[in-house]
Amino acid sequence: MRLILLGPPGVGKGTQARLIEEHYRIPCISTGDLLREEVAADTALGRYAGSFMEKGDLVPDEAIVEMVRKRIEGPLCRNGYLLDGFPRTLAQAQALEEMLRRHGVEIDLALNLELEEEELVRRLTGRRTCQRCGAIFHVLFHPPQSEGVCDLCGGALVQREDDREEAIRRRLGHYREETAPVIDYYRKQGKLKDISASGSIGEVERKIDRIIRKMLQVP
Ligand code: AP5
Repeated sequence: MRLILLGPPGVGKGTQARLIEEHYRIPCISTGDLLREEVAADTALGRYAGSFMEKGDLVPDEAIVEMVRKRIEGPLCRNGYLLDGFPRTLAQAQALEEMLRRHGVEIDLALNLELEEEELVRRLTGRRTCQRCGAIFHVLFHPPQSEGVCDLCGGALVQREDDREEAIRRRLGHYREETAPVIDYYRKQGKLKDISASGSIGEVERKIDRIIRKMLQVP
């Protein structure tokens, strides 16, 4: 199964990606997480990408496509995967299609999470992420058991650099201008399902689960 999770910053893609990964046992490729690992390791890619990320701008397509290609063509992804945060531009969507065509496979489903902007900002400003394992929390909507400490690994919870108001506005702007056409791209192929991301994490998880089960024809 090859899935794509689309949706604006803060809609809950990372949160749901982790649940889908666990439930369906398919690896998740999150371009945001991969880039943050490169930044933390201070690699050449990390230094290059970091300058775009901290402002809330998109990292140029060539760097992203090459990073994803290496993962997709690796042994862990042989039986499918979930893409979180990719493709985010039409050029990335076309590069992905070309990559898949070479392997004689295609995307099964693109899930498009939707939410009004005011709520996105509320989710982003309250987000806290584990510095060690990347687990995602929210100060109000999904608080950890002890403040500032990850429930899963005990790591420190921090606020992401790009969750400042100015960077959030830029990310939302890029989403409207560059990622909206990607939604139409998959809609025209008949592969897109729109999902309202309002409601609790569990409610959104159940909506996604129903759609995936229907696609897999699991009762
Ligand atoms: P990336 O990490 O992909 O960021 P994003 O798309 O902006 O998405 P977010 O991670 O901010 O939000 P999310 O939808 O995953 O929400 P989450 O689950 O955390 O990318 C970061 C940067 O990397 C980009 O700006 C760009 O620079 C670069 N980049 C990455 N991919 C790229 C690409 N393909 N091309 C170019 N550049 C790229 O949830 C948010 C909060 O809400 C959390 O606190 C969570 O607990 C809470 N929450 C989740 N669900 C619910 C719910 N149902 N109810 C209440 N709260 C909820």
